[in-house]
Amino acid sequence: MRMYDIIMKKREGEELTTEEINFFVEEYTKGVIPDYQVSALMMAIYFQRMNKRETVDLTKAMIESGDIIDLSAIEGVKVDKHSTGGVGDTTTLILGPIVAAAGVPVAKMSGRGLGHTGGTIDKLDAFKGFSVDMAIDKFIENVNRTKIAIGGQTANLAPADKKLYGLRDVTATVDNISLIAGSIMSKKIASGADAIVLDVKTGSGAFMKDEDSAFKLAQEMVDIGTNVGRNTIAVITDMDQPLGYAVGNALEVKEAIDTLKGKGPDDLTELCLSLGSYMLILGGRAGNPKEARKILEDIILSGKGIKKLKELVEAQGGDSTYVDNPSLFDRVAIVEPISTSEAGFVKSIKADDIGRAALVLGAGRETKESEIDLGVGIVLHKKIGDFVKPGESIATIYANDPSKQKIAAEMVIGAYNITSEETKPRHLIKGVVTKNGIERFG
Ligand code: URA
Ligand code: CA
Repeated sequence: MRMYDIIMKKREGEELTTEEINFFVEEYTKGVIPDYQVSALMMAIYFQRMNKRETVDLTKAMIESGDIIDLSAIEGVKVDKHSTGGVGDTTTLILGPIVAAAGVPVAKMSGRGLGHTGGTIDKLDAFKGFSVDMAIDKFIENVNRTKIAIGGQTANLAPADKKLYGLRDVTATVDNISLIAGSIMSKKIASGADAIVLDVKTGSGAFMKDEDSAFKLAQEMVDIGTNVGRNTIAVITDMDQPLGYAVGNALEVKEAIDTLKGKGPDDLTELCLSLGSYMLILGGRAGNPKEARKILEDIILSGKGIKKLKELVEAQGGDSTYVDNPSLFDRVAIVEPISTSEAGFVKSIKADDIGRAALVLGAGRETKESEIDLGVGIVLHKKIGDFVKPGESIATIYANDPSKQKIAAEMVIGAYNITSEETKPRHLIKGVVTKNGIERFG
């Protein structure tokens, strides 16, 4: 088999065979096929696309390129959740504990943040002592004992995807639906989940800027999951503004704590109840969304959710007294409310720009080696549809460096579009895709 022929075949719009897909994935992972040939193939795929069969084959080949984590020693259906990436998205810190408290095992492999989107592990670092470094046996033991553990992605999961994603990133071939779907699903499946709930974001802060593409991506991922025997549900949700109010590590952890205590922002609470309901359904704990929602609401009300977060933090070496005493979290030197001269309704907030402002403050990583400043970030006071009075503050910046504070303040002001016409609040949940089809809401 020759890579040249595979590139040519795809360039002409033909379907690649399973053997051809396995060949290029294996040989590329080994370093036998060079980047330039795979770049050409990715561009051919970008223009000519892949059908469902090819997409599933690519996903399987990427899964098999590395380790597949065996979580069979964990009792129950392991349901994983994955978000396609957003700003101020603290859902894992809330969903994990409430779903675990409902009895569904949460064996979560999380990542660190890069660029304008945050990562769950960085947020958990806000608890002094918390660590995700543990052997797989300990990870499994923790899940069996407390129903929840959060690990780092240490295993050699889908190395083919890692290489391909890096290549796509610099050759303008990221945004092809088959390639994105295969990339995400290969990692989820290799990390051992029995069932998967996907939060597919759409809007200014997301990969998929428009709703139709988000539904298509969701459908593709659900089809892959179904094909490889993993029950998969995708929820399509709004990312046209940051989720909740807080953006930044310790600030988001505090927001998650508030939400677990029943005092969180409406959108964040709603998203967690919605995604969590599907996790309970896939985990066999509830028969329908209504029943599942009731279980989760009761868990929050009774305090079982917040108790579970404390158990998680303690089990992984962190100081859980932070939960009841949030003043222990990293604090900053500068807390500065910002306002604009404009008055009117918030029409839009560029979520990615808010994420970048948090990055400037030091809340995220410019490169893999960057150190994170856990305390810094932004707390929004106004969301889409809210009215801003003249001189009223729209957000507060938490900073440790006055010059960075200034830059971030300007970025936040620039991210807001305030107009005189009344704007409706955004619809958070756009729809759901299951193996039975698409359901659109509102
Ligand atoms: N996230 C991934 O993991 N892969 C993609 O291709 C795009 C987003
Ligand atoms: Ca938030």
